[in-house]
Amino acid sequence: MASNQSYNVKFFSGEEVPLELHKVRIVQKLNLIPIEERLKAIVEGGFNTFLLTTKTVFLDMLTDSGTNAMSDNQVASMLRADDAYAGSQSYMRLEEAIQQVFNCKYFLPAHQGRAAENIISRVFIKPGDVVPMNYHFTTTKAHIELNGGTVLEIYTDEALKVKSKHPFKGNMDIAKLEQIIKKYGASKVAFIRLEASTNLIGGQPFSIANMRAVRKVAKKHAIMVVLDASLIGENAYFIKQRETEFKNKSIKQILHEMIGLVDLTYFSSRKVSSTRGGGICTNNKEIHNKMKDLVPLFEGFYTYGGMSIREVEAMAIGLVETLDETVISQSPKFIRYMVNELERLGVPVVTPAGGLGVHIDAGQFLAHVPQAEYPAGALAAAFFLISGVRGMERGTISSVRDANGNDVLADIELLRLAMPRRVFTLSQVKYAIDRLCWLYKNRKLVGGLKFYEEPPVLRFFGGKLKPTSPWPQKLVAKFRADFGDSL
Ligand SMILES: Cc1ncc(COP(=O)(O)O)c(C=O)c1O
Repeated sequence: MASNQSYNVKFFSGEEVPLELHKVRIVQKLNLIPIEERLKAIVEGGFNTFLLTTKTVFLDMLTDSGTNAMSDNQVASMLRADDAYAGSQSYMRLEEAIQQVFNCKYFLPAHQGRAAENIISRVFIKPGDVVPMNYHFTTTKAHIELNGGTVLEIYTDEALKVKSKHPFKGNMDIAKLEQIIKKYGASKVAFIRLEASTNLIGGQPFSIANMRAVRKVAKKHAIMVVLDASLIGENAYFIKQRETEFKNKSIKQILHEMIGLVDLTYFSSRKVSSTRGGGICTNNKEIHNKMKDLVPLFEGFYTYGGMSIREVEAMAIGLVETLDETVISQSPKFIRYMVNELERLGVPVVTPAGGLGVHIDAGQFLAHVPQAEYPAGALAAAFFLISGVRGMERGTISSVRDANGNDVLADIELLRLAMPRRVFTLSQVKYAIDRLCWLYKNRKLVGGLKFYEEPPVLRFFGGKLKPTSPWPQKLVAKFRADFGDSL
């Protein structure tokens, strides 16, 4: 099949089924424990799904970060790892992959995405600078602020609409970008950051037309454009599906077009190549040299950057596999299936389907829970309790308090159910849909949460909360009444 064609398989029945174009050859046994044991687990975990152990989790939809399935070729490549502190052949193969996939000459390895963010922020941000972006990511914002910068989110009006048909909700608002540059002055703008398949607004992509517009403004004011490419494969897939100009282009052509519109690209390879690690690439030698010395200081030698050489090998293969549409379309197709079903069944879900996971509108789902009592966190805990499916709170708990110690209420309260690539089967996805529908029907039983242990930084990772009323026990009783002795 020509590399620029799309891989759609139509069913005779007319049903839209996301057909798996891979087979399962290594499996991991799952635990589906009784609801009473899950209640114990979520109480012990401070109603924070990050603090659950996987022994208690059935479907782990916390994240796709480091949890995507590797291919047979990736696993095989790990055996030929050329373990060397310096000058490893494995690293040379990674550089070739970077050249092929991202069309970049210069590369710096890092142990994960936030390590790349640390390097970029240290080098390019001065106290008082601002960084406009289509939307923030938690670790990105933390590093920018740590270096004295301020994040300015300039998403379009469409971005935060839960129900939308807009194909590119991850687009940057160009008029607002111009206003920011005018207000702060170009010298105060450290760089403009674009995040592919924007994580915190539902894995929503931007278009190449929007990238071109950003580039034009940046060029006019001599401002650097930085691309967070952690979910670039899915964004490229959406461009091929939704942007007419690129309908007949290969994924490789689309990726090269995207990278050609920015000065610097970084990524978490926990996402983009189904491995661990990360990196920064560019075609600008001056930009590269400014960051280079920080790699041995914070990460490791230039040719491994804190990664194991086995990961370096698997990353090289995984990056090249990003060019294969059957690989990068798998999550978006499963996500679309789940979103369509939930919409049909009346569960409030973010549309259109994005590239990272299914995002449930917790604000609407639990409209009776005040935002100060963390509806997205409550929904994440309640859904784990009644199903064993672990999702992630992406709402007020994921933001930070202001200087006066007050909560900053999030723009949207979401329960994110990530769809790691090639990990779940369709019947597992159907189970998640079924239990979500039951919970929606019984939503009035769910109450709010409050903190009893709250770390000052990135509190969503380690914070502990408790319910504001005995709602979890009521939910367990209703589950038993409806499902009998079912797991
Ligand atoms: C868009 C984005 N940028 C950066 C990161 C940070 O990457 P890492 O978890 O590898 O540190 C993530 C992680 O999920 C991400 O989604």
